Amino acid sequence: MSRRAVLVALALGPFAAGCDDEGVDFERMIHQFRYDPYEPSQFFSDGKIMRDPPRGTVHRDQVIGPPELVTGLEEGGYLSYVPIPVDRALLTRGENRFRIFCATCHGELGNGVSQVAENMRLRPPPSLHEERLRNYPAGRLYRVIEQGYGLMPSYREELEVRDRWAVVAFVQALQLSQHVELAALSPELRKEAQSWLR
Ligand code: HEC
Repeated sequence: MSRRAVLVALALGPFAAGCDDEGVDFERMIHQFRYDPYEPSQFFSDGKIMRDPPRGTVHRDQVIGPPELVTGLEEGGYLSYVPIPVDRALLTRGENRFRIFCATCHGELGNGVSQVAENMRLRPPPSLHEERLRNYPAGRLYRVIEQGYGLMPSYREELEVRDRWAVVAFVQALQLSQHVELAALSPELRKEAQSWLR
């Protein structure tokens, strides 16, 4: 059988019942010569079969960057500010990620009202407007996203560094939206807010 025919026979394997595969030595492929991990070998001059990564290689999962940006910590504790420029684009991104990854449990408004919260009797996701959480420095919110907290899983894999900060900025905006002092608003916004209060 030609090489091509063998490949086709292998690819069709499970579907090819009745096909004539006599003469194909599958055993030989299963038991071909190979090295196991950590096995010694004369092939390379250092006697190891496993290769070291080239010097300076950075693992693709390893996040590099300024420590405060990556960890949310600075000397003496949590970072008190979002370490990237907070503009509309960042907040929009944060809102988008929040609605996908956080609102399912903490609610669209961050008030802890969600179907999941109703079903999580043990320790439901808290309202992010609780005074305790409103007082969290930015770095602490970042850590909760990055590391997880108690029953809440980490969102490190789903949200890369910039997205985590975008969510932090959005959560802070959400918190402000429910608790800002009227006096702190610009005259136009104050007028708008007062029209809702009536
Ligand atoms: C699967 C449901 C779920 C999702 C999704 C979720 N959380 Fe949570 N979160 C929880 C639960 C449950 C707790 C309370 C954990 C505990 O006390 O053990 C919590 C706690 C928190 C806290 C308070 C931590 C503290 O120190 O008390 C913050 C802040 C928070 N979550 C933010 C977020 C953000 C931001 C996201 C989106 C990236 C998110 N959560 C996604 C379930 C969730």
